[in-house]
Amino acid sequence: MTTIPVSPASFHISDKIASSVYEGLLSSPKWLPSWLFYDSAGSRLFDEITRIPEYYVTRTERAILADRAAEIVELAASERALRLVELGAGSADKTRLLLSAAVERQDTVFYEPVDVSASALVEAQIRIENEIPGVLVCPRVQDYTHDLELDSTLPSERRLVLYIGSSIGNFEPGESMLLLERVRAALDPGDCLLLGVDLVKEHSVLLAAYDDKAGVTAAFNRNVLVRLNRELDADFHPETFAHRAVWNAAESRMEMHLVSETHQTVWLSGIDLRVNFEAGESIHTENSYKYRVGDAEALVAKAGFAHEATWMDERGWFAVCLARAV
Ligand code: AVJ
Repeated sequence: MTTIPVSPASFHISDKIASSVYEGLLSSPKWLPSWLFYDSAGSRLFDEITRIPEYYVTRTERAILADRAAEIVELAASERALRLVELGAGSADKTRLLLSAAVERQDTVFYEPVDVSASALVEAQIRIENEIPGVLVCPRVQDYTHDLELDSTLPSERRLVLYIGSSIGNFEPGESMLLLERVRAALDPGDCLLLGVDLVKEHSVLLAAYDDKAGVTAAFNRNVLVRLNRELDADFHPETFAHRAVWNAAESRMEMHLVSETHQTVWLSGIDLRVNFEAGESIHTENSYKYRVGDAEALVAKAGFAHEATWMDERGWFAVCLARAV
């Protein structure tokens, strides 16, 4: 009998993680994709980030939506029944404001969250159907960064796709364009997109938001190494990597890095990879693009939408932009 030697870890390693970690850590400079942050510990840490004092993003967008939900829903619906679609199932707390406003103007609101995680969708479904009577959740397990296919609508309905929370900020400019074109292709003329973008502001405010005093963002950043230790049988010592947040003015983005404090070698046994770090060498773990007033409007126009309205907070820190598929 022949036995084929396989390292034990290879049984549970997803190809997507293995290939992107392999590629990123063999690149120079080294990088890791930011979607790796969101295992269950990482999702919990991000949830904590949304409540820390320095992280203005979530709270600022929520205030805009709390003020404007009725107006947004009215404008998007323009005389029809509205069906809400959301890319990602994670921003339910802000989504609730829009769903409640929609329930005010029609008896039943269909809500279609699109997410790769079936468990996140089930959680959202239970929570929302319990909390907002009148909302019917139709979850869709799909990776919207690759495909997007939505339930068909009746002639009496219109869709409003929510892409809020500055989620688009993680994509390179070319990728965000492709993403919005894909959204447009899944829609019918007259359907709407609500896009939430974080705006360029004083650097000290940005730096504090991505390097908070309590160290929650640092823990969120280092958690990616904890995840690789577990999922790729790696031997990172996360505490030997410093969290660094950088404002890259030329690219208009906040960056997060993990900087090796010593010269060291890390062994990722699950993908049979040995990686050398010089003292001070970094792994680039995230880009969070910040927009200027007018950028989101130009982007949606290029992707096949007509811009309808933009709402901002009074400090001009965050923008919520409504656009209609043409
Ligand atoms: C979830 C992508 C909107 O870019 O602000 C928070 C992620 N990174 N703190 C952001 C994040 C560091 C967040 N997004």
